[in-house]
Amino acid sequence: MTAASPKPQVDTSKPHPARVYDYLLGGKDNYPVDHEVALKLPEASKMDARLNRAFMHRAVAWVARSGIDQYLDIGTGIPTEPNLHQIVQGIAPASRVVYTDNDPIVLRHAEALLISTPEGVTDYIEADVRAPQEILDHARGLLDFDRPIALSLIALMHFLPDDDDPYT
Ligand SMILES: C[S@@+](CC[C@H](N)C(=O)[O-])C[C@H]1O[C@@H](n2cnc3c(N)ncnc32)[C@H](O)[C@@H]1O
Repeated sequence: MTAASPKPQVDTSKPHPARVYDYLLGGKDNYPVDHEVALKLPEASKMDARLNRAFMHRAVAWVARSGIDQYLDIGTGIPTEPNLHQIVQGIAPASRVVYTDNDPIVLRHAEALLISTPEGVTDYIEADVRAPQEILDHARGLLDFDRPIALSLIALMHFLPDDDDPYT
């Protein structure tokens, strides 16, 4: 984690996906601009945030039970317990997890993501999925790329516009 970096600048004049999602999940790390967007969403989308989070819980638990103990989670979101590492380390305590998000507000709360089991490790890097090399270079410090790694991009890629060519 970039612990020595200056306090993250959070622009509260524009809505941001991490904070809108946090609002929909009943969190407190959001601002009036985020509420405005969230309240315009159809009822089904409001429920989707909770269903999505529940899917993340089920999916990573399944992966952990399959024997995978390394995770790269891009588009982590503002911490909401249980976080990914708490689920997988509850199953395999030595699991190693690298979290990434491009929203400075997530970095502000990253301490919650760094409380690992003594046997495992967690780490956080503020980075954009559109800069994969930066993410991979950082993750190599913690994860063994000669062994299986689960990549989580849950509820992330739809934020990338077509101009960014998310398919490649
Ligand atoms: C809907 S949340 C999903 C959180 C978590 N993955 C989950 O499923 O519970 C999407 C997250 O993706 C992040 N995000 C959006 N665009 C991103 C990008 N280009 N690079 C990295 N993260 C991004 C947002 O900041 C937000 O925290």
